[in-house]
Amino acid sequence: MPQPTSAPRTLTTESGAPVADNQNSATAGAGGPVLLQDQHLLEKLARFNRERIPERVVHARGSGAYGHFEVTDDISAYTGAHFLGAVGRRTQVFARFSTVADNLGGPDAARDPRGFALKFYTEEGNYDLVGNNTPVFFIQDPLKFPDFIHSQKRDPFTGKQEPDNVWDFWAHSPEATHQVTWLMGDRGVPASYRHMNGYGSHTYQWTNAEGAVFYVKYHFRTNQGIRCLSSEQAAELSGSDPNSHQTDLLQAIERGVCPSWTLHVQVMPAQDAANYRFNPFDVTKVWPHADYPLHRVGRLVLDRNPDNVFAEVEQSAFSPNNFVPGIGPSPDRMLQGRLFAYADAHRYRLGVNHTQLPVNAPKATTARNYGRDGLMAANAQDRHAKNYEPNSYAGPVETGAPLSAPRPLTGRTGTHEAPQHAQDDHFFQAGELYRLMSDEERGRLVANIAGGLSQVSREDVVEANLTHFHAADPEYGKLVTEAVHQLRED
Ligand code: HEM
Repeated sequence: MPQPTSAPRTLTTESGAPVADNQNSATAGAGGPVLLQDQHLLEKLARFNRERIPERVVHARGSGAYGHFEVTDDISAYTGAHFLGAVGRRTQVFARFSTVADNLGGPDAARDPRGFALKFYTEEGNYDLVGNNTPVFFIQDPLKFPDFIHSQKRDPFTGKQEPDNVWDFWAHSPEATHQVTWLMGDRGVPASYRHMNGYGSHTYQWTNAEGAVFYVKYHFRTNQGIRCLSSEQAAELSGSDPNSHQTDLLQAIERGVCPSWTLHVQVMPAQDAANYRFNPFDVTKVWPHADYPLHRVGRLVLDRNPDNVFAEVEQSAFSPNNFVPGIGPSPDRMLQGRLFAYADAHRYRLGVNHTQLPVNAPKATTARNYGRDGLMAANAQDRHAKNYEPNSYAGPVETGAPLSAPRPLTGRTGTHEAPQHAQDDHFFQAGELYRLMSDEERGRLVANIAGGLSQVSREDVVEANLTHFHAADPEYGKLVTEAVHQLRED
């Protein structure tokens, strides 16, 4: 906490002039109207009016912290990424955790996925891994994302989240059954940001120094242990302490109890992808560990709180298209949509020069390019350099080395359904997740689903959702049906 200094410094206006009176506005006489010439008053009110910027359209509510990532195991066989290239190598990191659906000010203890966004300040540029605490997602195509989010956020007429909309979207989206089962289960409400795992969720491409290509899935396993809240505990906490996750993370780091996660990856040789039993580029599916075991990579530690939440957390900007050499996208079409959406959101929310803000700028290297100017341009170090390329003045030049490996393509342009692999359907993995649960877990899962679904006004929407749970596992479907009917009769 900052300590008061013994000799207070002079208060100034934004242009640095001393302020004579910060308690009384300038007026025409003691009882008269306020003067337009009161620069300090006008500036103060005008600045105050502009304190808010647009909140994130999703993941608006979140908490951030700084730390580092340290490599503990040699995985150079799989990626040439420099920051992962040597045991013991450390990279500075900024992390932001979030809820998804609610607006700024929403309660932390919501039943909602949690964002798990990481920015690695590597020597080869910033690498952003923008994941969730869930290994899968609700939909398979980015075209559906705006509709999905509309159905989960506030209704334009009622101004609140509506079970009718939430479940109507899922009724039309059987591919969501796996993630809905995940969300309604015990892990649907983490006790805090420290007590949850993080997943890249999508499949990414890694390329090693020899050019061999692998597909990987990231798993950050919490070293604090998984802890969750029941629906009843969450409802109570949301009322009594809406900032519970923020408080927990802030206070843990202030106390020196620094949260950490161990990163593991599942690695699939590129040649396996075409014939794997599930489409490996479908974010609604996991790769069972029996097919692709976990390889330990390193340790993420968070040990420093931001000094200013607005400057460093609200203005932080993560983009899944910030890759470094050795890491690239897979053809997962959801990921492909995200490669566009985030930087576009940042240009709207924060402006074209958001990459110059300290939390977003590279720390272990310098950005050198011919992009210039725009609103709030702060970098002046290039002011004498040429702003075009190629040039004869030793300006920065391209390397000719692509960051990731090329992929062979087949087929025709057009709108296509995603390729189906041998065991691809919308329900099998949801059923597998259900069958992994103990009887007690199944009971809570069924009660959570029934609690939401029973509030839906249309019978056809309820029935369509029940069909999905039946398809996942007959017992699952039967128990949810009975629980919903019981609640609707009460
Ligand atoms: C096509 C699908 C998706 C689209 C179009 C999309 C779009 C967006 C947008 C526009 C934002 C707000 C960015 C900002 O204003 O800073 C956002 C935030 C976020 N999204 Fe997505 N998203 C998609 C799917 C996903 C998936 C599958 C995940 C996780 C695996 C995810 C994780 C996140 C996280 C963690 C944030 C918050 C980042 C932060 O802390 O600033 N999103 N998304």
